[in-house]
Amino acid sequence: MNIVTARNLIKDYGPLRAVDGIDFEIGRGECFGFLGPNGAGKTTVMRIIYCFMPPSSGEVKVFDMDVTKDPSRIKARIGVMPQEDNLDPDLTVLQNLLVYARYFDIPKKEALSSASELLKFVELEGKAKTKIGDLSGGMKRRLTLARSVINNPELLILDEPTTGLDPHSRHSVWDKLKQLKEKETTLILTTHYMEEAERLCDRVAIMDAGKIVTINSPSALMRLHGGNLEDVYLKLTGKDLILP
Ligand SMILES: Nc1ncnc2c1ncn2[C@@H]1O[C@H](COP(=O)(O)OP(=O)(O)OP(=O)(O)O)[C@@H](O)[C@H]1O
Ligand SMILES: [Mg+2]
Repeated sequence: MNIVTARNLIKDYGPLRAVDGIDFEIGRGECFGFLGPNGAGKTTVMRIIYCFMPPSSGEVKVFDMDVTKDPSRIKARIGVMPQEDNLDPDLTVLQNLLVYARYFDIPKKEALSSASELLKFVELEGKAKTKIGDLSGGMKRRLTLARSVINNPELLILDEPTTGLDPHSRHSVWDKLKQLKEKETTLILTTHYMEEAERLCDRVAIMDAGKIVTINSPSALMRLHGGNLEDVYLKLTGKDLILP
């Protein structure tokens, strides 16, 4: 069974067509990446998959449920790491995790034990009582990752999970995502780092101006087009890589 299926997905923001009739399928346990320049429509696709907003037309199914008909049931089974951090600045690190756990009706005791486990997972165990405003940008990103898995999601959606991280933190997030993959968690991610896509993704969709230019495995793309994944990306989008 596919975890996500999109058919002729279109999203308009007023007169702007941000996603222009795309089709894709993501299988269970797969790590699927969306690549493409700024404004290609990657975040828009993510937001539709995690039921933050509906498509303008077309159909998107997650766990075989329509995103416009069953958003609550879908949301209960997914984790989301949005592109923009949306942690509660008035709360501490631990409180942020506990409040989030409440949305999923996770009992307090269970929430406390998974929160402390997750803080270790993202190497923030010493920061439990720290206010969000006193964290560095990279620490906030790692906390957002911890928060996204508090409900033990079957599908994890990661919008630029390692943007702004130092090399050590980036490698440690890659390790964490590989561990989740080993547990059969389905991963959907966007990234501007071709190395990240090559290391993690079973398949990538290269997007440009709201359309999918190609979908394939990184290794097949490199074989078909020559060069490394960055060369393939440049060839297919005709744009330079924009490193945040
Ligand atoms: N809420 C919104 N209202 C109006 N236009 C929007 C909105 N969100 C995105 N857009 C527009 O839709 C297009 C696609 O944006 P989107 O954020 O999906 O791109 P992206 O591929 O995620 O880019 P980036 O790599 O910069 O994150 C852009 O032209 C953007 O300006
Ligand atoms: Mg984006």
